[in-house]
Amino acid sequence: MAAFVPVAVTPSVTRATAASVSASRAYGTWAPAPVVAARVAPAAPTMTFEAGVFEHTNPYAAELKETANYIARNGRGILASDESNSTTGKRLAMVNLENTETNRRRWRELLYTAPDLGQYISGCIMFEETLFQSTGDGKQFVDVLNEQGIKPGIKVDTGLTALPRTKNETATTGLDGLPERCARYYAQGARFAKWRAVMRIGKEDGAPSDAAIIENTHALARYAQISQAAGLVPIVEPEILMDGDHDIETTAYYTERVLSYTFRALNEFNVCLDAALLKPNMVNPGNDCPTKVSAEEVAKYTIQTMMRGVPGAMPGIHFLSGGMSDAEATANLQLLNTLEEGKRAAFAWNFSYGRALQIAVLKLWAGDDAKKDEAQALLTQLARANSMAQQGKFSGAHPSPGGAERNWQPLRLV
Ligand code: 13P
Repeated sequence: MAAFVPVAVTPSVTRATAASVSASRAYGTWAPAPVVAARVAPAAPTMTFEAGVFEHTNPYAAELKETANYIARNGRGILASDESNSTTGKRLAMVNLENTETNRRRWRELLYTAPDLGQYISGCIMFEETLFQSTGDGKQFVDVLNEQGIKPGIKVDTGLTALPRTKNETATTGLDGLPERCARYYAQGARFAKWRAVMRIGKEDGAPSDAAIIENTHALARYAQISQAAGLVPIVEPEILMDGDHDIETTAYYTERVLSYTFRALNEFNVCLDAALLKPNMVNPGNDCPTKVSAEEVAKYTIQTMMRGVPGAMPGIHFLSGGMSDAEATANLQLLNTLEEGKRAAFAWNFSYGRALQIAVLKLWAGDDAKKDEAQALLTQLARANSMAQQGKFSGAHPSPGGAERNWQPLRLV
């Protein structure tokens, strides 16, 4: 359908008749009455108004839906390896490696060339530097991933910034210039994108404040809209951190509230939900909550919250690991896929794990290439464990050597 480009008019002349408006709507466009056209300001700014379903207004519609379904399909999840250079530096420091471009590349090469990874992983999120990097032999990472059957993805936000007049709450940056960056990422082979919005719960100060929720969900919707226009499936990530001593009901309440704002915003910005993926936190109590809960309680609260908040049009919910231990992340995913309560869901209960797939592998490798094969085999086993859990079929011992240890880290701005 052709886009109609209306011209600016002064308020006093916007007198389209009801008949002309309804006639033009019947053709899917809006047009002012002829009297308005006579009073057009010559140098008017233009805007594009497109009424019509996504399939007729977005040239990438079919590809976007195909990509989203491909990533969310049964038995496959996402490897989140999009840590910024600064966060990657902190991870490398854990194993006494210097934060150089070469070390970042070596680390990502180990991950992406792990044999059989594509049997369990359907999408991989990269940081901008990584998207344009190649293996030591000069093969582009996007080609390595595509050969594994893994869709290349890109983190497009540029990090967090403090939200003034709130207590340690944040907004996510990166909307400026985003359409141009998305076009470059698509040209380089990226087919999906990620934007991380971060909110925290504070029992004393009432966080997340309405300001934080409104700002973060608005930015998620704008990002998702821009991504879809550029042919990238947006992963919408409204993360509520585990920082704090709040109980599980409090997390359930705020997760549901944030989801409600998120989908309201996505709808307002005409984001097509069948061509997008969600990446929320599971519903856990705060890391310092004195009352411990079972994996089954986490799964039940998570299912209840997602069933209330997420429209069935979405192909998949890809949970972040958020600091849960490797074993916890797998066990909870397994329950989401086996408990009766979750069976009515139209979307897949899936994973997009960073720490729960990487930390044990990094510790094993620690920069020593003699350990590379062993570290790659561990990554594939961890991916397989979560793939099995995604199908409700995980059993036996968890492959992670430090499986029960939490990977929690406090709120970081980069
Ligand atoms: P974690 O699984 O480590 O939480 O990371 C996932 C992610 O992409 C956070 O933005």
